[in-house]
Amino acid sequence: MIGVFDSGIGGLTVVKALKRHLPDYDILYFGDTARTPYGTKSPETVIRYAIEDAEILLQKGAQMLVVACNTASSVATGTLKERFDVPILEVISPAVKMAVSDPKRTRVGVIGTRATVNSGVYEDKIKAIRPEMKVYGQPCPLLVPLVEEGWLKKGETRKIVKKYLHPLKLKQIDILILGCTHYPLLKEVIQAKIGKRVNIIDSSEALSDSVMDFLQHNPHVDSGLRKDGTCRFYVSDVTEQFQKIAKTILKTAVTLEHIKL
Ligand code: DGL
Repeated sequence: MIGVFDSGIGGLTVVKALKRHLPDYDILYFGDTARTPYGTKSPETVIRYAIEDAEILLQKGAQMLVVACNTASSVATGTLKERFDVPILEVISPAVKMAVSDPKRTRVGVIGTRATVNSGVYEDKIKAIRPEMKVYGQPCPLLVPLVEEGWLKKGETRKIVKKYLHPLKLKQIDILILGCTHYPLLKEVIQAKIGKRVNIIDSSEALSDSVMDFLQHNPHVDSGLRKDGTCRFYVSDVTEQFQKIAKTILKTAVTLEHIKL
């Protein structure tokens, strides 16, 4: 089974993309809804949580791990790879691969949580491949709660998005990476505010492409994965609001199973 984890419910954007491309693969999801958000926490805390999230999925039978959370991917990937002997795919590298692929585009904006932007991981990875590229990070801490409130198209949300994107507009970016699980749900508003000529990279889509690519190139892993098309959703806290957000993201009601931490 493919184990996917996130700080909460936002990682379901990755499950949605995976289900679209790999509908038969069994998925185990863990959302750490009791301790969300991760984006405001220190790297040490996020690393500790990410280890526990991975352990939960491995105990439930996951044979590979997909870190849907940008914040956890930014600060915990190295530790997770050292610690666990299963394939681990994170969300940053696939988006970086897309960002560097068009030689005509050189100015990248990255939006994400404070922890992700402060880690500088997107910039480091992009510059390691194309040092001439310019990378501008912009933390957008208010966007996660707005998405969780379901304020996807409200005037207030548009205004806040506009304000966050303004510095990136001034930098004349031509690529914008949505470096957070929640932002794909605001893609329309973000595209409208940043302008049509900016190429938006949705990190959840990029990650699901990289999972497909990994499985094609690693048939020994692929052949061991169950393909009954089932999905189980575990969370560390169950509330009505989480059920609502899950439905908004997946466009269908799902049963959230509680795991006590
Ligand atoms: N899942 C987080 C991310 O992608 C966003 C929510 C949080 O701060 O925990 O960075």
